[in-house]
Formats: sequence, structure tokens, C-alpha cells
Amino acid sequence: MKNIVLIGFMGTGKTSTGRLLANRLGRPFIDTDKKIEQENNMTIPEMFSLYGEAFFRQKEREMAAKVGRYTNAIIATGGGIVLDPENIVRLRVNGYIISLTASVEVILERTGRRNTRPLLNCADREQKVTSLLASRASLYREAADFVIDTSACTPQQVTDEIIAFL
Ligand code: S3P
Repeated sequence: MKNIVLIGFMGTGKTSTGRLLANRLGRPFIDTDKKIEQENNMTIPEMFSLYGEAFFRQKEREMAAKVGRYTNAIIATGGGIVLDPENIVRLRVNGYIISLTASVEVILERTGRRNTRPLLNCADREQKVTSLLASRASLYREAADFVIDTSACTPQQVTDEIIAFL
């Protein structure tokens, strides 16, 4: 069976929805960020601060190529996976791409609970989210087979929508 690949900005619920969806469908769950952390034995914030964003993006590229060869998996990706169009080409070979979206307000609320995102570790988070989102919105849209606005939804409701789409 084809993979189901969740893409979208930070705080749109890729990981929580992916985990639920995998449980509901009885399929393996893979979180590309978690896997990058495990394979490199360091957290993403450590990777950014020790080696820089470009190093992380290279690891992310290698991970997209690797998980793109899987089958039957539910794959949650990092928010920047769309920055390299090759990543999407690789993930699409064997997967449906589902894009999760949310409003700036909701993203700020969700990502503010635990600040583990180096890109949002700045004084003006609202400005950062707004500008990053504007620069990426078309990338998420163009990569997607299906788009779900998660702003007013629980991960359970998003999971139901995905199952209805399949
Ligand atoms: C990033 C999103 C993060 C993580 C890294 C960079 C991004 O993943 O990959 O901090 O560029 O949007 P989440 O979307 O799971 O927070």
C-alpha cells in the first residue's frame, strides 16, 4: 500500500495526526525529524546550533530519499521538507501527500507551548511565522494531493478526514 505523507508548517499537527492515523489504520508511523535525531544521536536544535541549517537540510534530504522507498507507512515530515522540490518528488513516488494547514494564530499558540524549533527561537515569533508561512504557502499547496485546515480541528477529526479521503 502507498505511504501517507503529512506535510505542512510547524504546528499544523503532522506528528499527532500521523501517530493517531497509524494507530487507527494499524500501519507503521515514521517521523522524519525523530528519525534524523536518532540516526545522528543529537536533537534538531543541537544540529542547527552546532552545524547550521544547511547541514540539517542535507540530513532531511537523505531521509526523504530513504522513507520515500518505504511502503505502507504513515510519514510525518518536518515543516521545511517542501523547500527542496526533489524531496516531494521522492515522497510522491510511493505516497499520497496530505498537506495540513492552520492559521498564524493557531500556529503561534501550538508552537508556543514548547519551544523546540530553532527557526522560531527569536524575539518576534509572530513576524517570523507570518513571513515563513507566506514564503512557503504555495510550496505546500502545490505539493499536496489533499489539503486539510486543522485550525479548528482536533487530531482525531483530522484523522477522520484523512480516512474519508483515502
Ligand atoms: C522546520 C520544522 C521542524 C524541524 C526543523 C525545521 C521547518 O519540524 O524539521 O525545526 O523548517 O519548518 P516540525 O514541522 O515538525 O516542527
